[in-house]
Amino acid sequence: MLVFLVLITFIGFFAALTGFQVGQAQGPDRPGVDLHMYQGRPMVAADYDPDYDYGLGDGHISKLEPYPECDKGYRTPFDLWKYAGRGASSYTTTELPMPWDEWLKMNRDRKPDLMKDVREYMSGRYDFSGTTIPGVMMSGGRKPVMAGPVARLPKGIKTWEELADMGPDKIRKEGIFPYVPLAHPLHSTAHMVFPENWLVNHPEHRRIDVDHDFPDAYLPEFPPPLFLTTHKELGDVSKGEEITIGNYFEMFDGLLTPEQMEGLKELLRPSPTTWFNHTTHRVTAEASAGVSCMACHVNGHTNGAFELAPDSRPNLARLRMDTPSMRGNYNMMQLSSKRSIRSMDHFAEVEEYFDGDQSIAAAIGPRAHQKQVANRMGDFNGIIDFPPAPKLDPLGRLKKDKANESELRGEALFQGKAQCSQCHYGPAFTDDYMHDLQVERFYSGRPEGPIKTFALRGIKDSPPYLHDGRLPTLDDTVEFFNLVLELDLTAQEKDDLVAYLLCL
Ligand code: HEC
Ligand code: HEC
Repeated sequence: MLVFLVLITFIGFFAALTGFQVGQAQGPDRPGVDLHMYQGRPMVAADYDPDYDYGLGDGHISKLEPYPECDKGYRTPFDLWKYAGRGASSYTTTELPMPWDEWLKMNRDRKPDLMKDVREYMSGRYDFSGTTIPGVMMSGGRKPVMAGPVARLPKGIKTWEELADMGPDKIRKEGIFPYVPLAHPLHSTAHMVFPENWLVNHPEHRRIDVDHDFPDAYLPEFPPPLFLTTHKELGDVSKGEEITIGNYFEMFDGLLTPEQMEGLKELLRPSPTTWFNHTTHRVTAEASAGVSCMACHVNGHTNGAFELAPDSRPNLARLRMDTPSMRGNYNMMQLSSKRSIRSMDHFAEVEEYFDGDQSIAAAIGPRAHQKQVANRMGDFNGIIDFPPAPKLDPLGRLKKDKANESELRGEALFQGKAQCSQCHYGPAFTDDYMHDLQVERFYSGRPEGPIKTFALRGIKDSPPYLHDGRLPTLDDTVEFFNLVLELDLTAQEKDDLVAYLLCL
């Protein structure tokens, strides 16, 4: 107990410390800064009535703090959800705030301290104890599925059921929601951050300024298996290897159509990006050839690399996004978390390696992905299948003779009391809609708005969960939905739901 108390005090202390360090005072106390007028421009209409809050309650704009003024490379708050504001411009440039030598030195010097704070922050939020679910492996058979929940309960709360009983208002007022959004650890520079499992084979993607903030044990298996809709009989066609520009032809010759083969090549070909390129506007020590689609969507799945969603400005308003799997994209009508892109071809065409910013594209150079090529990338993407689910029948129901009691109870809950199937149904367990889960009912912060329903087929293979990965395990996901949908599930019911999710 004493150890526990000491730990909590320690964590609290760090939470206060690790916030961030930018040069100036922050938040509402910063003199002369008012969110209604931000950076010299109105955020809301002049006759805005502060009593009318669009139903947001404590999420009201007046309760938010203005974004810290910070240039590329500056430390940003880990609790970025408390902030809001309008940027000086929608555009950016490839100019660094200082000469390259200074940039390199500043980032290298700061990285150890930043990463120490990032790890403290993450271990304050999560108990990454490394406990696995006995006997349950990811689809490639090489990596165990982690047990949870690993999010830490707030101080003084003994069980998840006790927390759920408090309800959204009380949890928000006491500021104790365990599943607040996760920011990019260096949100001012942001961009792609690759996990260690990728970097050991691809040191050219190691950043000078920041590393991934999850232990590898809590990320997808590497390399993940690849299943094709066209060759179900072959199982994992990658045979446990990472598909590269050097081995793809040999691996797939005689299995793919010429268009699919060409598409696969393009998915493996690196292109310059906002921060991985040949200019000095970069986060690698050496000039970089860029990244390929499969540097994140490795073997058509994901390695857990994260990035910012490209759909908003200023950059500090962009949500952190975990790389989603490409598996089963053939059936999805809605691609990407917010942009409602309706086809894979279109996705490959628009994939904004340069954050969609033409002013950067001019300097880092064009991509080879012209429309025709993008269509072929879509051709390959369109045959990437979900992993086998031997316990599901053709209608996606559990086979009675294959599933155990707990899994069957989980299925009944999924379709009944837990209401999951309201949004997760059909062959991929998604409704292809965006929903506003209104998670801001549980914390005073900037609402994240509607997000697409992610597919649940093969879900045990793609931790961490939710768009930003704030739910490290499936147990955390069930705790999250139990709170957010106010389901009143018992501990046993939650275990059964997890047992069921592992069958999908
Ligand atoms: C950071 C590594 C990264 C790289 C490199 C990358 N992606 Fe993605 N991909 C993501 C992230 C993050 C998202 C989610 C974006 C969003 O929700 O707005 C995504 C989403 C997608 C989706 C939609 C999936 C879904 O379930 O909604 C497709 C399709 C896709 N990427 C294809 C590509 C293609 C094609 C390329 C190469 C041109 C590529 N990606 C390069 C990280 C990456
Ligand atoms: C109102 C619709 C809705 C209901 C009901 C719902 N979900 Fe979801 N689910 C979503 C949306 C939307 C997301 C994505 C949210 C985000 O990323 O912020 C999601 C995400 C998830 C994820 C993460 C997927 C990933 O790849 O990261 C899991 C797991 C999940 N839901 C399981 C469940 C379970 C289990 C239930 C029932 C207890 C449930 N959902 C009920 C809409 C719903």
